[in-house]
Amino acid sequence: MPKVSFPKDFMWGCATASYQVEGAWNEDGKGESIWDRFAHSPDRVLNGDTGDVACDHYHRYKEDVALMKELGLKSYRFSIAWPRVYPQGKGQVNQKGLDFYSRLVDELLAAGITPFPTLYHWDLPQALQDEGGWGNRDTAQHFAEYCSTVVDHLGDRVKRWLIFNEPAVFTFLAYLSGLHPPGIRDTRIAVRSTHITNLAQGLAARAIRATGKAEGIGTAFSMTGIYPATESAEDKAAAERRFAFTNLWFLEPAAHGRYPDAYVGGMSPERLGVQPGDMEIVKTDFDFIGINLYSRAVVQHDPQDANLGAREIAPPDAERCKFGWEVYPEAIHDVIMRIWNDYRKPIYITENGASYDDVVDERGQVNDPQRVSFYQRYLAQVARAIEEGADVRGYHAWSLMDNFEWTFGYSQRFGIVYCDFDTQRRIVKESGRWYADVIRGNGFQY
Ligand code: NOJ
Repeated sequence: MPKVSFPKDFMWGCATASYQVEGAWNEDGKGESIWDRFAHSPDRVLNGDTGDVACDHYHRYKEDVALMKELGLKSYRFSIAWPRVYPQGKGQVNQKGLDFYSRLVDELLAAGITPFPTLYHWDLPQALQDEGGWGNRDTAQHFAEYCSTVVDHLGDRVKRWLIFNEPAVFTFLAYLSGLHPPGIRDTRIAVRSTHITNLAQGLAARAIRATGKAEGIGTAFSMTGIYPATESAEDKAAAERRFAFTNLWFLEPAAHGRYPDAYVGGMSPERLGVQPGDMEIVKTDFDFIGINLYSRAVVQHDPQDANLGAREIAPPDAERCKFGWEVYPEAIHDVIMRIWNDYRKPIYITENGASYDDVVDERGQVNDPQRVSFYQRYLAQVARAIEEGADVRGYHAWSLMDNFEWTFGYSQRFGIVYCDFDTQRRIVKESGRWYADVIRGNGFQY
């Protein structure tokens, strides 16, 4: 059993997001978010679940930080709810909202845990959606102002910031598939929203740097390992387009001020709504790249698909987690190497994990050997990438605790800590205890 080990000072962490764990949806002056509105509407979320209470982290953050300390976490990735800070998305600041995050940061620092906040993890103020949301260019400006306010307020204690969480997911699910709020299905708006989000990313990065208080800025990009179905030139080209679309649509503009070649025949600046000067604004020299990675896609050339000319096929006999995602550990290695080779920036794994059917046994314990095995295999691949030269600085398990999994409500448990949503009792799962050992030993036998 060789030891899988990690560099000194590796940032071992866990991740959560505001709407998924906080609850307190309308307390202390918080404004309504698009997720509040959506979850309160009929038939949007499985079983009618909402994030009204979620893990009640807003009230139980001290207990949760104590738990993080017990696990030995070095880093806590959480997100800041924009409508707590600006209930209307702009204009009047809600001091009580800022105070909550300030208390959380103090609590983390006192526990020796580095706060690693994300400024946007999908809970847009509803008031801004009423003005068009990410389909309205003004939103980019409001977002930059909100970021500036938060960083100015917490920047004496928080040094590293993530601007967005998974911009590819929140734009397309909101405006193309309509599965996420505001539930719009409109290709024109969806395409434009991606450009406005890139603009917002650039404006926010500038606003954050202007505070003079941040030492590192990045975004947590959703990434997937992409593999051609066969070695044919056509399948390989299709896989490349899909890689660009899935993994680079918000990274390539930041790194090089251009959109990657994802669409067959290209994507016109007119469809994106690019205005003169925009491609300068979207360019922001990130200090690091955040990667959220869970799975892979196997892709075949498909002339019927007018957009990407690509179709995903289901590999036979794939191992899957409860969510249906294929468990494919090599994907994390392969994506890290590709991103490291192409961009040469420090990398943080900002999310990785799996949902399984966890149950509390008669002794009050939660044993989740499948999740332990998932983490062993993915972490071994992260270590392999580091050995091959990639500068990976940290890893965040998704998630610290079971929480509100968007349209799937509370049906998908991703935590290394079990949350009983009736009593709010937390139980560290077997995987949580295993992860604590990994952190303590800065590695594991495998
Ligand atoms: C992606 C998202 O960032 C997070 O909010 C979600 O819960 C997990 N991955 C699992 O789907």
